[in-house]
Amino acid sequence: MKILVTGGAGFMGSNFIRYVLNKYPDYKIINLDKLTYAGNLENLRDIENNPNYTFVKGDIAKTEDVDRALGEGADVVINYAAESHVDRSILSPRAFLDTDIFGTYTLLEAVRAGKAKKMIQISTDEVFGMVHNVNEEFTEETKFDPSSPYSASKAGGDLMANAYWRTYKTPVIVTHSCNFYGAYQYPEKLIPLFVTNLLENKKIPVYGEGNQFREWIFTEDHCRAIDAILHKGEAGEVYNIGTRNRKANIEITKFILNYLGKDESYIEHVADRPGHDFGYAVNPDKLIGKLGWKPETNFEDGLAETIEWYKNNESWWKKLKSKEYQEYYEKNYASKK
Ligand code: NAD
Ligand code: TYD
Repeated sequence: MKILVTGGAGFMGSNFIRYVLNKYPDYKIINLDKLTYAGNLENLRDIENNPNYTFVKGDIAKTEDVDRALGEGADVVINYAAESHVDRSILSPRAFLDTDIFGTYTLLEAVRAGKAKKMIQISTDEVFGMVHNVNEEFTEETKFDPSSPYSASKAGGDLMANAYWRTYKTPVIVTHSCNFYGAYQYPEKLIPLFVTNLLENKKIPVYGEGNQFREWIFTEDHCRAIDAILHKGEAGEVYNIGTRNRKANIEITKFILNYLGKDESYIEHVADRPGHDFGYAVNPDKLIGKLGWKPETNFEDGLAETIEWYKNNESWWKKLKSKEYQEYYEKNYASKK
């Protein structure tokens, strides 16, 4: 099988590429990535010389880049590429529209033209808006009600995927997943930011009181979900990916503090995020019942493994948090959004 993975130099895309190359030694992967601030070829250092892996630098919103990456064609496009951070979308929404909506449209057009046989759109539960308590759940039928420019842009891409299926029968599957955690996550998101700040002896900014909650899935479990969808999922279907592992931000904060032997004086309660969704909770019964997938990683074990990874890979994240890098980012990336 030949797979075009987009955004493969990012957090989950790189984990998925490694997973596929290990599990399916005869599969070929092309990674199309624009290398934004979140794209990092160091995430793939261990597999960059694998003969079944090719990297193409390019933008999913540019037809010529997508065509170049697809070459003679592919069996499937798996779209991990996105602007993915809510806080950045609040500061500067434009890049989110370009990649998450227009980029998704460009890939759908390539599939509609027959350059790939199908597409899997990797999306988020955030398109559904929020739940108010841990017993409410988003199902595949829940209406979209996004709050942030990030989730509105992802919803735009997903709606376009649904429209392409209904209108043209373009074979596309959409997934809505809960929050990922694990190795190689950029240190701007809750878990890696807090772990790396504490490893640097810095304070950790909890938005508001920290009572908001998220549902969490470990990288390996998400890779296995996409594996199941890739091999058994049906075109035109939507699958929620969830674990029912729901935790308030403050609980996670205390777990990390405790694990790293720090006390609660490191917590800094800062102003809340504007439009902050209170909770996300995903009903994954369709994926479990129809495709036989289930999450396998216990949250505390996965979180401990993740913290250990950041402890053991300081050189990976130190660069991303360095002043020099932040200046590079401001000059080359932030100012151009
Ligand atoms: P990430 O920000 O770590 O990586 C995104 C990657 O996409 C980077 O390598 C970046 O260079 C690349 N990219 C950005 N714009 C591009 C463009 N125009 N063309 C080509 N490449 C481009 O993201 P992530 O956290 O790994 O998330 C992957 C996907 O999963 C995203 O679609 C995101 O919306 C979705 N998702 C993420 C989470 C989460 O918790 N992180 C949860 C559910 C769904
Ligand atoms: P984040 O990792 O940005 O993911 P998302 O907003 O897409 O779920 O944030 C997870 C939760 O953690 C969210 O409720 C906001 C909160 N948060 C903080 O309290 N402090 C922070 O510095 C960050 C980045 C997030």
